[in-house]
Amino acid sequence: MQVHDSIESLRSARQKARRKAAFVPTMGNLHDGHITLMRQAGEHADEVIASIFVNRLQFGPSEDFNNYPRTLTADCERLEAAGVSHVFVPDENLMYPEPQNYYVEPAPAQISILEGEFRPGHFRGVATVVLKLLNIVQPEYALFGKKDYQQLMVLSNMVRQLALPVEVIPGETVRADDGLALSSRNGYLSSAEREEAPRLYRALSRICEAVRTGDHDFLKLETEAMSELVAHGWAPDYIAVRRRADLQPPVQEDDPLVVLAAARLGTTRLIDNLEI
Ligand code: PAJ
Repeated sequence: MQVHDSIESLRSARQKARRKAAFVPTMGNLHDGHITLMRQAGEHADEVIASIFVNRLQFGPSEDFNNYPRTLTADCERLEAAGVSHVFVPDENLMYPEPQNYYVEPAPAQISILEGEFRPGHFRGVATVVLKLLNIVQPEYALFGKKDYQQLMVLSNMVRQLALPVEVIPGETVRADDGLALSSRNGYLSSAEREEAPRLYRALSRICEAVRTGDHDFLKLETEAMSELVAHGWAPDYIAVRRRADLQPPVQEDDPLVVLAAARLGTTRLIDNLEI
């Protein structure tokens, strides 16, 4: 596996090899969710390219940019074991050599809801860095996890609306045995919080089950789940049943649905979702 800390080195390796590439951007601190995406990427292309970059642009002023876990050596070992050919590890100066004042601004309807409502500027930062990474790497495929459902939607729409020459491939959410979605932020949980954390998944599963068996009183289901979380010490931001297509509230009976949630447990903010 080659580790690249410059654009030239990555580009020249790509040009020499002339192989179809699948790209998996990450912020590092890799877990089995990331590694599953790498392996899935390998099924679509001749080589897999990963990137590790903690993107300041997508963090709010009171978020965990400075404390975000940086574990480059361990990450590279895991990527190599997963058969990744190239990893791009730019530093801040390489990605943002001058103040970034051109941005990708996703549609207000997409970013004023759910995560966008609680993390102003987040998706603008995500879309901007991902466009930049796609321009640097120029892969045939790019993989993003459903764990970050709204991010996947924002990025798929960006690729389609800006006619980027890349195919987006979604990856299923990888979970711990007790249902908790794997996340770099799980490492912030105390052991008591880690035991409590799968309640979020269980709450989403119950909503799925209820909707599947014909209960379409979404507001009641959402409110009950919120109350249960609050009763166990959580501070939920939202639990919402939405249309998969655009994450707006469902209107028709046969809309394919997804239920999404974000909630804080102690100081850690967890997100999760389930397709219904
Ligand atoms: P990061 O949180 O490191 O996630 C990198 C990729 O892994 C994303 O596509 C995310 O959806 C996926 N992922 C995370 N946890 C997962 C899980 N449990 N199962 C399946 N996939 C999972 O998302 C980002 O980084 C950044 O916003 C990024 C796209 C790299 C832009 O900076």
